[in-house]
Amino acid sequence: MRIVLGVTGGIAAYKAAELARSLIRNGHEVQAVLTRSAEEFIRPLTFASLTGRKVITDIFSSASPEATLSSSVEHIGVAQEHDLLLVAPATANILAKFAHGLADDFLSTLYLAFSGPVVLAPAMNDKMWAHPATLANIEILRGRGHSIVDPGTGFLACGTIGQGRLSENENILAAVEAVLAQPKDLAQETILLTAGPTQEPIDPVRYLSNRSSGKMGYALAQAAITRGARVILVTGPVALEPPTGAQVIRVKTAQEMHDAVFANLEPATTIIKCAAVADYRPAAVLTEKIKKNGIGLSIELERTVDILEELGARKGNRLLVGFAAETTNLRDYAARKLENKHCDMIVGNLVGGLDSGFESDNNEVLLALRGGVFIEVPKAPKSQIANRILDQLVKLRA
Ligand code: CTP
Repeated sequence: MRIVLGVTGGIAAYKAAELARSLIRNGHEVQAVLTRSAEEFIRPLTFASLTGRKVITDIFSSASPEATLSSSVEHIGVAQEHDLLLVAPATANILAKFAHGLADDFLSTLYLAFSGPVVLAPAMNDKMWAHPATLANIEILRGRGHSIVDPGTGFLACGTIGQGRLSENENILAAVEAVLAQPKDLAQETILLTAGPTQEPIDPVRYLSNRSSGKMGYALAQAAITRGARVILVTGPVALEPPTGAQVIRVKTAQEMHDAVFANLEPATTIIKCAAVADYRPAAVLTEKIKKNGIGLSIELERTVDILEELGARKGNRLLVGFAAETTNLRDYAARKLENKHCDMIVGNLVGGLDSGFESDNNEVLLALRGGVFIEVPKAPKSQIANRILDQLVKLRA
């Protein structure tokens, strides 16, 4: 594929040279575009040598004229000739320009003229990354379906430790390949997805929860992003890194999940309720730790709110997908939940087996659809199961 590699002015600009090399090794053609400030950190000649192409810069009288084309190059032509725009590192400044449509240099002008997929790998000081202005710009860019390779956490050039360093090149490459490989059949969708377990506190040190690992929900989030969807991921506590590009909302209890879901319902076109929500919680949360007393202990439980049921009543014309984790009678229970909770699809899985369902990397599901249709999806890695579920969503939309 033909990739524009935009390099902006940050200390991580030197890493973009290695990135260019890896892209070429993967069989891509790379057109490097350096901003004026990127040139302060790395010479165009480096990229010209690696890519075998003249580098586009914003400086007419570049120090290496033999290696550069000036910004008088037609940006429309460059936009049309390339399949993907990657910016690594992307400074807070270029993110702001992209988010708000400023076009005062070649890269920002090219961005406005470019209609293909965009991958952005931000790198900056941790305070700049955490600033509400940057976060708001990132949300705008995510909302346009761009893939954001979140910066990593570690030692930063400014001498502090925090989140802001350019993600590893392998993560950026993986994001590029994932974007190029997938059909963008979910580009019109904003998917509100819940994942993981909930935790219902008993006292300050204990809670009720379940064995959900979040792997199925996170696999769905990743697959949906790769297929072009905007994903709002409402997640219970899990030990997984959320997929790059997801808007992540972390919750603990069923009530918090409920509130986060309904606060984010408006933009959603599809809701996938993959989370294993606790059906019961302690009727009273004790403020002090329960001490053992030599006899048994009873805890009174009360029902939590049924989020899926409420969604069924309030979904409007959104597609609604529920999950059913069962130990017996999967087909019957899945069909019943489809009906009772007004879903468009129930993803049923039998739990309790050895290498499928909770905690496993594999799954085996039964899709229950309206009209008494059942589709069996045989055992496969959760990433593949995720794509089969999304295939059905695409069919439901057709
Ligand atoms: N769910 C929910 N809110 C709850 C409980 C469950 O939104 N308080 C959702 C889950 O996210 C899942 C679906 O309901 O999509 C199925 O959950 P499950 O607990 O298996 O089903 P229930 O309808 O609670 O039925 P039962 O307890 O009879 O299995």
